[in-house]
Order: sequence, then C-alpha cells, then structure tokens
Amino acid sequence: MAIEQAATPDVFDGAALRADFPVFDRPHRAGRSLVYLDSAASAPKPRAVIDALADAYGHHYANVHRGIYELSEDATQRFEGARKALARFIGAPSEREVVFVRNATEAINLVAYSWGRANVRAGDLVLSTEMEHHANLVPWQQLAAETGATIEYVRLTDDGRLDLDDLRARLAKGPKLVAINQVSNALGTINPVEQITRAAHEAGAVVVLDAAQSVPHMPVDVAALGVDFAALSGHKMLGPSGIGALWGRRELLDAMPPFMTGGSMITRVTLAGSEWNEVPWKFEAGTPAIAEAMGLAAAIEYLERIGMTNVRAHERFLFERAWDALGAVPGIRRLGPDSPDQHAGVISFVLDGVHPHDVATIFDGEGVAVRAGHHCAQPVMQRYDLPATTRASFYVYNDVDDVDRLVGAIESTRRIFGAR
Ligand SMILES: Cc1ncc(COP(=O)(O)O)c(C=O)c1O
Repeated sequence: MAIEQAATPDVFDGAALRADFPVFDRPHRAGRSLVYLDSAASAPKPRAVIDALADAYGHHYANVHRGIYELSEDATQRFEGARKALARFIGAPSEREVVFVRNATEAINLVAYSWGRANVRAGDLVLSTEMEHHANLVPWQQLAAETGATIEYVRLTDDGRLDLDDLRARLAKGPKLVAINQVSNALGTINPVEQITRAAHEAGAVVVLDAAQSVPHMPVDVAALGVDFAALSGHKMLGPSGIGALWGRRELLDAMPPFMTGGSMITRVTLAGSEWNEVPWKFEAGTPAIAEAMGLAAAIEYLERIGMTNVRAHERFLFERAWDALGAVPGIRRLGPDSPDQHAGVISFVLDGVHPHDVATIFDGEGVAVRAGHHCAQPVMQRYDLPATTRASFYVYNDVDDVDRLVGAIESTRRIFGAR
C-alpha cells in the first residue's frame, strides 16, 4: 500500500491505492481503464484481503471451537481475533457483543426475529423511515404483520433528509423500536444518529442502526452513538462476501432467545431439551464463515492503515467535486442534501429524458461502472416520484480523474440523446 499525497488538495492519492486492487488490472471492453463507482453495492478487494483468504484456506483452515489439535486452535484463535479486530473498529465495548452473520440483512433479521418476537406485541409501534434499504424495512413489516404491531415511517424532506419534526411527532407515540440507517445508500444522506438515538431513548425505544453504508466509509463508534444494535456487511468494506456482523448491547443480547438453533450454539443437549451457549456464540449456529472472518480482519487492517478519518475526508473531497460538477450539467437532478457534512460519497441523480438504465449502459461503454435502479429502496423512489436513479459511489481507490470520467460520461450521454 502506498498512501501518497495527491497532486490535488486531496487527503491521499486514490490512484496510487488502485495498485493494491487486482481488479483494476483487468482490461475493460471499452479499451479504457475501469472507473469503479459502485462501491455502495459492493467493494473490490485489495490484494491483502485476497492473500489473507488464500492463506486462511491454505494454512490456517480447520473447523473452529471444537478441535483439540493445533490447526483447529490456530483457526479458532484467528477467527476470534477477527471478532476482536471488528469490535475495536466499531468501538464495541466488548468483542463478546459482536455476532458474526452473513451480512447486514441477516443481522437485522436476527434482531427482528429474536428481539422483535420476544418484545413486540399487538398494538405496539415500530418506527422506521422512508429512506431505508429494504433490509431495514421488510423485516420490520414482517414483524408488525406477525405480531399485530403498527409500523410507521419517518417522512423525508425534499432534499433527502429525515424530517426531524415528523420524527419527534412519531416518537411522542412511544414506539418500541426505531430502525434507521446512518447513511442512505439511495440518497447518500448522513443521518444525525446520536441526536435521533437520544430522542428515541427518551421515548423508550430500542434503536437498531443499519450501519452498512457508514462503517466502510467513516469512523463509527457504536458506543458513542449510543445505539442498541448495529448491522454491517464485510463485502462493502473491502472484505469478503458471506460475512457481516451484528453488534448489540450485551444485556440485550443476553436476554434474547437464539435466532437459529443447532450445533455450536448450545452448551448441553439431551433428548429432553437444550441449554444455550453464551453470547456471541448463542447466535452462531453451525460452522461459521471461518476464512472470510480472517479476510475481514485483513480488510480492517487495510482500512486502519489508511485511517477512517482520512477515508471520510477523501470521499468528502470527491463528493464536493462531483456534486459541483454535476450541478453544472443542464437537465440533471441530484438527490440528497447539498451540504457535504450531511452527504456521504454517494450521488444519486437523474438526467432529464434519459432512463437511468440507459445512462448506466452508456457509462459502461466508457468504462465507468455505476448502479442504476431503485437501489433496494423503492419507497425512496416513490417519495421522489422517480422510477429509478443512476448512482455513483466513491471509495478509497477513486480520485479526481474518476470524477472527470464521470462527468465526461454524462456529457456523452447527453450528446447521444441529443440534449442541448
Ligand atoms: C443501507 C444498506 N443497508 C443494508 C444493506 C444490505 O446489505 P447486504 O446485502 O450486504 O445484506 C445495504 C446493501 O446495499 C445497504 O446499502
């Protein structure tokens, strides 16, 4: 890794970091280098992570927590070491509060099924927002449908922020649970989580934070935020797919029934019944993603070497540059807040008269990879009366040239569609 100073007043040189990511060696059919602007969906892997995965499978692989032999002890130590690394990375008071799951979706489902079914009753209120990813929406709808609880959604302002007056009015009804994201994948909005959590706690609610888009891109300290649960995915933070985590406050996790049952999550089983293991293992039934945990630890180490404050500052710099450049394009509509304090490195936009899918197809012809669609946030599209948007999202390997290529691709799209 070469963390070099960029030629422009950026924090570090994203182009130099691209050398760490083998995917950028891949020739693109457009005959140009790949500009990857779809990190909000999933991130490419640096060589350090790919090597860690290969090393895990090659030299440290055995099942964990059960072998009385050196190799299994080694695998267990590394697997549990990854849990420790993740706990440190997100400011968890204890690694025992970090449950490995497959992804953020599973983490939220774990809370909805385990905490939700044990605590939410008919007539209770569950509060989510109009800007959630389906992963932080559908599990709560299911919970409400099964328990007879009511679900409400905090409304959005025209510029893509949570309407805090609406939030306050709904909190006054005393919801049991508040489910919010820290960063919206569809709008790029950064939510004032600390402030919302304080208000939600005063109203007596438990707060579930969808941190899938924040943990990879900014310093996140779950203890400082004050939330009760937080969900994340490894694949969005340079780590392998197939591993993610739920962080939860210890006393809540302790009191919760298991989500899935079977091997590993028990201490004693007889034909008459079973006793559960302690947290976090109570929630980790079956063989976990062993090598992937080791790969995730390598991703964390990679990000820590850059420094999460630098990652955030770098993305903020690219955001500001791209937001201003896009704002100068005739016929473009950008979604989400103007302020870089409230906007992560995710820009959702629509171009007058051109379907977002056509935009993305023309971009691909220029080697610029962006996402087009509803971004698993259909209520956001409904709120702004759009069928879809095109979304460009930044990460450590992007730089100002990528912003220029993005703007160039928009100009090509306008030319092809005969825009004046
Ligand atoms: C805000 C947000 N929450 C949750 C998820 C779900 O993540 P996963 O598909 O890894 O479970 C995503 C994925 O895009 C997301 O952007």
